Amino acid sequence: SASEITDLRALARALAVEAGAVVRGGRPDRVEVAATKSTDVDPVTAMDRSVEELLRRRIADRRPDDAILGEEGDDVAGTSGLTWVLDPIDGTVNYLYGVASYAISVAVVAGEPDPAVWTPLAGAVHSVVDGATWTGARGQGAERDGTPVQVRRPDSLATSLVGTGFGYQAAQRAEQARVLTHVLPQVRDIRRLGSAAVDLCLVAEGRLDLYYERGLNPWDMAAGGLIAAEAGAAVSGLHGDPATRRMTAVGTPARQAELVALLEEAGA
Ligand code: IPD
Repeated sequence: SASEITDLRALARALAVEAGAVVRGGRPDRVEVAATKSTDVDPVTAMDRSVEELLRRRIADRRPDDAILGEEGDDVAGTSGLTWVLDPIDGTVNYLYGVASYAISVAVVAGEPDPAVWTPLAGAVHSVVDGATWTGARGQGAERDGTPVQVRRPDSLATSLVGTGFGYQAAQRAEQARVLTHVLPQVRDIRRLGSAAVDLCLVAEGRLDLYYERGLNPWDMAAGGLIAAEAGAAVSGLHGDPATRRMTAVGTPARQAELVALLEEAGA
């Protein structure tokens, strides 16, 4: 119900803000890489792990029947049909280097925790360095620090500012670079800011017009995708598919359709 969704949004916001304070207060001057994941350039820090543990403890306490899918830990099964989708630090490379864009992303989805079929109900993204918190709730709009946000509506692709991101695998990056050569000449400019969750919130509030990336994980897009959609963005993949790891393209509806056509033409 609407009031349950409102409560889930408040909890997502509280969790993201609490975790954000931990990250803000605990970042050492020089961050060490604790381990690497998919490749040597895909880092995990001690902070990623401890913040995800904090989020998992809070959810187990407050919502014991819900499932959990997180970037840094094992899936937890639930009985309620709801799943919390967690990214303790989205933009880990920025966190490592002390570059501004990194965030905690907390979302709750109904149904299978798979972007192809899930229904996101509520989400929050808390940007650690500037302290901004974006939230979204299904059917209830998107906000930044309590103020409603809306996508920008540029009148052409040529005047649209487009965010994107790259994965950690060399072959995937070569393909992303190839597609980028088709997109860059057609748009105002490209930004690679380093946190997909924040980038999707920037689309929501009109600081980017569009965002696309191939290879996004469910936790990179769960909260930000809902926030962008609730701010008026179209969110999809290519060829009429939903937004998934295969492709996520987000932005003001008319321009998003043009970007999707361009990506399809580029064979993305
Ligand atoms: C990454 C960031 C980045 C995106 C990558 C993600 P992580 O998440 O969101 O902007 O381009 O695809 O993997 O590894 O920092 O949590």
